[in-house]
Amino acid sequence: MSNTICLLPGDGIGQEVVPAAVAVLNALDLGFATETHPIGWDCFEATGSALPDTTLAAVATHQVALFGATSSPTGGAAGYNSPILALRKQLNLYANVRPVKSLANGLSRADIDMLIVRENTEGLYVRQETATADRAEAKRIITREASFRIGAYAAKEAAKRRGVLTITHKANVLVKTDGLFLEAATAGAQSVGADIEINTRIVDALAHDLVMYPERFDVIVAPNLYGDILSDLCSGLVGGLGVAPSGNIGDTHAVFEPVHGSAPDIAGQGIANPTATLQSLAMLLTHVEQHAASQRLQTALSTTFADGILPRDLGGSADTNTFTAAVIARL
Ligand code: NAI
Ligand code: MG
Repeated sequence: MSNTICLLPGDGIGQEVVPAAVAVLNALDLGFATETHPIGWDCFEATGSALPDTTLAAVATHQVALFGATSSPTGGAAGYNSPILALRKQLNLYANVRPVKSLANGLSRADIDMLIVRENTEGLYVRQETATADRAEAKRIITREASFRIGAYAAKEAAKRRGVLTITHKANVLVKTDGLFLEAATAGAQSVGADIEINTRIVDALAHDLVMYPERFDVIVAPNLYGDILSDLCSGLVGGLGVAPSGNIGDTHAVFEPVHGSAPDIAGQGIANPTATLQSLAMLLTHVEQHAASQRLQTALSTTFADGILPRDLGGSADTNTFTAAVIARL
């Protein structure tokens, strides 16, 4: 792994929250170099490409990146494809990992500490859709290989935590696709040989339980679409999109990003909550084995909240720079 972290701020508030993370990274003084590369809608408009070859090559070389957000026009635009989906595919970032943890931020429920592991390469997100005027179809691809791999990944994460893995599915209705996911993810989890409890839950019942008893869950592994939906739901249990981090992780490369998008409604005002990106940076630091620095950052964030310094989306008045300075002061 190189000593350089690629920065991909992208569009909208990506241009505000990634610099906040860089200020924290510099304050931690770990000796990393950074390189900033263009990506997203503004880049597409300027260059004709949302993911220039130079950007992809830089992430491929340095193996670790922090991504902000990109804008995608609803309904699409000719020649524009979501660059984060392209990065996930090109670099085989097969696990989308989203920790959900209680924070003392006033909007968070207590005692939640879970990890949602979402299959990141197939399912309904292969985007093989066809339509006539009155009928539309989407292809859903589930393979044994990808399901086994994500089950194994989730089991390893569970072994590092409280040791409880929940595999979610809808195999009672989607017998073939979810049936294969359930079978292969279970086999993958068992193949790790870890001393963990493996249970299964139908996705709609799980959605209910996540709202009623989120504290019961440790690691949840899900096919792509279910994982996308459940992880946004869970971010709402601990303060919302402004705090939810994620990692797109493969065997060789990893791209960390806040779950939120480019937030055009607040972009340019300097009021975006940088917490989701700072927590994504903490995940990145753990990934590059900077465990102590990651812990320092997480503790500084908790202390900032505990001291009552809150961004606007959490009911406070701190703008991006004020909040970031408060975190740096607590490192
Ligand atoms: P969004 O996440 O950008 O915004 C949803 C709401 O949450 C907005 O009211 C926004 O102001 C608020 N919000 C989000 N992050 C915040 C933060 N850090 N601090 C304070 N408030 C925050 O989702 P939306 O509006 O559906 O999409 C906007 C654009 O972002 C679209 O073009 C969409 O395609 C793109 N998008 C990109 C993603 C990515 O790059 N991975 C993910 C989701 C959406
Ligand atoms: Mg989402």
